[in-house]
Amino acid sequence: MKSGRRNFIKASLLGSAALATGLRESARAADARTQRRPMEVLILGGTGFIGPHMVREVLRRGHSVTLFNRGRTNNELFPDLETIKGDRDGGLDGLKGRNWHAVVDNSGYVPRHVQDSARLLAGHTKRYLYISSVSAYADFNIANSEDSPLATIADESTEEVTAQTYGALKALCEKRAAAEIDAGRLTVLRPTYIAGPGDHTDRFSYWPIRTREGGEMIWPGTPEDPVQIIDVRDLANFVVDCLENETSGTFNMATPAGVYTMEEMLNDAQAVTASAVEPVWISEEFAYEQSLVGGRELPVWHPKSGADAAGGSFTAERARKAGLRCRPERETMRDLMVWWDSLPAERTGKLRAGMSPDREAAVIAAWKAQKH
Ligand SMILES: NC(=O)c1ccc[n+]([C@@H]2O[C@H](COP(=O)([O-])OP(=O)(O)OC[C@H]3O[C@@H](n4cnc5c(N)ncnc54)[C@H](OP(=O)(O)O)[C@@H]3O)[C@@H](O)[C@H]2O)c1
Repeated sequence: MKSGRRNFIKASLLGSAALATGLRESARAADARTQRRPMEVLILGGTGFIGPHMVREVLRRGHSVTLFNRGRTNNELFPDLETIKGDRDGGLDGLKGRNWHAVVDNSGYVPRHVQDSARLLAGHTKRYLYISSVSAYADFNIANSEDSPLATIADESTEEVTAQTYGALKALCEKRAAAEIDAGRLTVLRPTYIAGPGDHTDRFSYWPIRTREGGEMIWPGTPEDPVQIIDVRDLANFVVDCLENETSGTFNMATPAGVYTMEEMLNDAQAVTASAVEPVWISEEFAYEQSLVGGRELPVWHPKSGADAAGGSFTAERARKAGLRCRPERETMRDLMVWWDSLPAERTGKLRAGMSPDREAAVIAAWKAQKH
């Protein structure tokens, strides 16, 4: 036999042996996954935007869910699940004397509430997973990693959640959770803009919804400006992975930094809605002049200058190494439009983010007047 052919066969045999070993290993891993005992998971919240996706993912993987909320939001969603009624503000009695394998805290905005639930449940759960936010960071001029400094607040006793206090309060909530739960049993996730079906903020949603109307449309900054989101289902998957794999630590939750851009968002919005717009790219200086920066009129976009310059550049590599997988943004957009089209007219009639048609027309006129 010629040596080339012999080597080829040897390499092929080695390849098939390695493949067989690989297959055996992945079968073993799959067995380990399926043999994992079902968990009982308590979700604080569970009926807002992100909660239902977590509930469904937990159930899909064969675990069970108990909800804890006041019974005010989307009460009809999960009639077959046990719901313990109570208010995080001093009304946790219904949780006493019960044990869960894991607790997901996605409704914690006030440090005292997080402290109370973490303290009460510390001895009754193996894992406490707190949903924080990238808003917890101190400075949005740097590409924040999990070790970046966190926001602080002069009056730590304030319980008023506003645009100004939200981030620092989330940072304090994290601190209170860490004071009650050992580091080896605590997971803290910091998502950027959460997008997808059920999003009640209309921030990422604004772009395809507006694009569908056609005509001249304002697109701010440059086509290369970075945009980051996290699909609510990718977040939910990662949450349940953390519970199953007992993953501790703090993780940013975002699509890879510097990959998705305003131009791609425009292309996706046109593709998903089968529409075309005439983009009017206004400079970021003009956006500042028109007071369009920092509010909700141009959501998920961040100008390259100013206090928020790195608001689209969070590092989420730690989460990716721990298993975070992000679907293409186009899929998020497509699915959220299907959801959007299923909503009643009184909900879709008024967007909660983005520019009103009158405002947009006025800004376009001013931009054209300035240019000529
Ligand atoms: N949206 C984003 O882009 C984004 C980005 C980063 C981080 N986050 C974080 O994600 C979480 C928001 O998730 P979401 O939008 O699904 O939730 P949400 O709408 O804020 O919370 C709703 C859930 O919490 C329950 N709840 C609210 N107040 C309660 C109270 N005082 N006592 C007991 N239950 C209470 C609600 O039920 P009842 O009303 O029936 O009580 C409902 O089940 C927050 O932690 C937020 O900081 C969001």
